[in-house]
Amino acid sequence: MTDAKAISDHWGKGDVYARILDTMELAGIDPNSVTVEQLAPVDHFHARGFPATVELADALPIKEGDRLVDIGCGLGGPARYLVKRFNCHVDGIDITAPFVDAANKLSVLVGMESAVECRHGDGQKLPYGDETFDGGYTQHVTMNVPDRDVFFGEACRVLKPGAFFALTEHGLGEVGEPHHPVPWSEDGSGAYLMRPADTVAALEKAGFADIEVADTGEKYLQGYGRAIELAEKGEAPVFGTHILLGKLAPQIVRNAARNIEERRTHPVQIICFKPK
Ligand SMILES: C[S@@+](CC[C@H](N)C(=O)[O-])C[C@H]1O[C@@H](n2cnc3c(N)ncnc32)[C@H](O)[C@@H]1O
Repeated sequence: MTDAKAISDHWGKGDVYARILDTMELAGIDPNSVTVEQLAPVDHFHARGFPATVELADALPIKEGDRLVDIGCGLGGPARYLVKRFNCHVDGIDITAPFVDAANKLSVLVGMESAVECRHGDGQKLPYGDETFDGGYTQHVTMNVPDRDVFFGEACRVLKPGAFFALTEHGLGEVGEPHHPVPWSEDGSGAYLMRPADTVAALEKAGFADIEVADTGEKYLQGYGRAIELAEKGEAPVFGTHILLGKLAPQIVRNAARNIEERRTHPVQIICFKPK
């Protein structure tokens, strides 16, 4: 099995869209009138979910009419939120075909299929022309990317001069050797964490400048802490990302928190620019 297939199978197999619809029904959400906000507990599939997307968006210079690229778009939640908030257009690409299928069907449900276009593919080989986009972002994707030089090089290639590029990830901590399972890997296979300083060096090598790094560990810990508390009280929301993480979800969330506390991982948000 190729690494790409293994990574895709790790994230989502089978009919992910059907699973989401079934859970919506259980949660009492009507698919015919569902809103972007109602989808958010599931389709912002990264640490802290929707609030983290909102904070990232607050920090980005997105303008009405911009064309953005979401590399590793998952179910397309962040893309739909940005389109609704900024009246922009987002092209998404993801290596997991069942996620792309679900992303496009969810966009149809909320009437956004012409503004959010997701396709199946690898961020290490983007199917877009040079200097196409006004900005790009990749949220919680790079932990699975073996060749960061190629991945960042592709991102830089498809961005216009002056465009922003934003990245959130679990970097490798000072101590290293994360406990598994974690969201991006069950046993360490397909995981390629890098120390934040090395990520910055790779971004510079790809051509990015004005690189700003923010530690997000404390905020993630608060988010994981709330999720663990709700689960322990038996009050976890019916419509939540546990439907994507599967049976190991409780252990995955506990390990994600413990890895930060023990400095095995070092989560960051990075914003940089392609020089004009
Ligand atoms: C934690 S999910 C994040 C999804 C989305 N960015 C979000 O924040 O909601 C990680 C995603 O990265 C995707 N992914 C991993 N490696 C990739 C690659 N080389 N190219 C494109 N997508 C990739 C996975 O398929 C998965 O959808």
